[in-house]
Formats: sequence, C-alpha cells, structure tokens
Amino acid sequence: MTQHFIVIGNPIAHSKSPEIHEQFAVQAGIDISYQRQYCPDDAASFTAVIEAFFCGGGVGANVTVPFKQVAYDCCAKRGGLSEHAKTAGAVNTLLLNKALLESGVPITEALYGDNTDGQGLINHIMSMDWPLTNARVALIGAGGAARGVILPLFEAGIGSLTIANRTVSKAADLVNELSAASSVIDDQNIEVCATNELSSSFDIIINATSIGLSGDTLPLDDALNCQYAYDMMYGRPLPFLQHFSARGAQTSEGYGMLIGQAALSFERWTGHTIDVAQATTALNKDR
Ligand code: ATR
Repeated sequence: MTQHFIVIGNPIAHSKSPEIHEQFAVQAGIDISYQRQYCPDDAASFTAVIEAFFCGGGVGANVTVPFKQVAYDCCAKRGGLSEHAKTAGAVNTLLLNKALLESGVPITEALYGDNTDGQGLINHIMSMDWPLTNARVALIGAGGAARGVILPLFEAGIGSLTIANRTVSKAADLVNELSAASSVIDDQNIEVCATNELSSSFDIIINATSIGLSGDTLPLDDALNCQYAYDMMYGRPLPFLQHFSARGAQTSEGYGMLIGQAALSFERWTGHTIDVAQATTALNKDR
C-alpha cells in the first residue's frame, strides 16, 4: 500500500525533499508518494491543509519556511511536541500521536511535532569524522536555525559553545531561554559575543545566519581560526566557507544536513533506518 507524505511550505517549488525521500523509499523497499504542498502564508490555511492531509490518510509531513513556528503552535495545543521541537521552538516533522489516537482522540487533535534539523546537522558532522566530543564550537547566528542546533550540540558532548550574533542581545536571550528549558544546555559553558568580536581558535565554526542568501559577508576577525567550518546553507559558493578554506580549514555546506534531517524524519514515520551515505551517493549522481 502506498504511504503518503508531503512537504508544506511557501514557496515550495524548489524543495529537494521529494527526490530525497523517494531515494530513501527505494533503499527501504517501500512504496511512497511524497509531494510538494504549497500553502498560503497564514496559520488558518496551514491548519486546514494539515488537517485535510492527515484526515485523508497521510502518514507524515515535513514543514519548511515559513511554517515551522506555526506548526509548533499547532502541535503544542494538540498532539504534543518532542524535546527537540520544544527547545528548537519549531517543528519540521509532523506525524500522528499513536497513543492519543488509540485512546480515542480524533486525528485533528493528535498532531505531533518533532524537529530533526539539529540532529541532522550533528549526524552529518559525525559522518565526516569531525570531532565533537569536548570540542570548542562557535555558532554564528541566533535565529531559528541556530536555536535548533544548540541542544543537539550539547547532547553530542561538545566542551564549550560561543554564540556570536550581529545583535548580541538576541544571542543572550536565547541562551537564557534554552538553559532554563533544558538541563543538558549548560550556560556555564556558553559565551555570547558580537560576530565581529569572535576571535581566537575553535575546533568547529558553524554559520547559522541567513547571510548566505543575501550576498553580504560576515565581519570576521583576522584572528579567528578553526579546523572545521560548516555553513548550514547549500547550493552555491558560500563566502563563509571560502574564507576558512583559504586558511586551511576543512569545510562543508549544509546539503548533508538536509539529507540527515530527512533521514531522521523518514525513520520516525516508517521505522526504516536509512544508510545516509548510500543515499547521498545515489542523490549526488543526479545533482
Ligand atoms: P533563520 O530561521 O534562518 O535562522 P532568522 O530567524 O531570521 O532566520 O535569523 C537570521 C539570523 O541571521 C540572525 O542571527 C541574523 O542576525 P540578527 O539577529 O542580528 O538579525 C543573522 N543575519 C541575517 N542577515 C545578516 C547580515 N547581513 N549580517 C549578519 N547577520 C545576519
């Protein structure tokens, strides 16, 4: 029997999720349909689309820009949120809460939200053998993308985190909020600063700002160095990675994170574990 999935966003035509999940389905040997779902940019439309999808027999949905916070609010009021969704303040993976359904709750009240973005990044970093245990990590950015990776970084055993942002107060607020929400996030091991004040040497520097889309460049100090640099954006030459590559660092764009988060969503929905390296090789042939 065909299992139905969607990715819901606005815009959505560019989404690579269908080809990624179809590749996973080939690997898992199951029959799926995974469609791009456009939705008008308002909460009522989002809720209507999601309800229609799940009431119509849909198994799982990915949520992308601009609906991740709307999806969070929807699940918070209904079927619940995973720890990762709670600390990210955002949902990228929707499924039905089976326990609630079995207790007689209607489908529309059993929408459960997870967030696999941050763990997708961690899994990609680990697949490249970049060391995370006790690592000194710098994270640039304090928006939604940065927020989602902080708990997974601490769960992966990093030693310290420096969060740098153009607006320092946003980084400080984020640390206060997340360290209060999770005992795994240790604010004793977190520093915040302005991006242009980020200095010295780190094991890993992660760019979680949206600057890669704008053509601007980050104001990076000459004394800032790292062994590994990761940009969560992908698909075009990224000045952030060029900067550190020229200084001898190993670098990676975020396409592997995209596949990593997708694999975790697929596993949650279907119970099939994905060999991400094999899927990546197959996908790269068509890239
Ligand atoms: P996302 O969900 O992609 O994280 P966001 O929540 O709008 O998007 O956050 C964007 C992040 O990129 C923020 O950290 C933002 O810095 P500010 O908090 O100071 O706004 C950062 N950012 C965006 N454009 C930037 C630029 N031109 N220079 C420096 N930082 C930038």
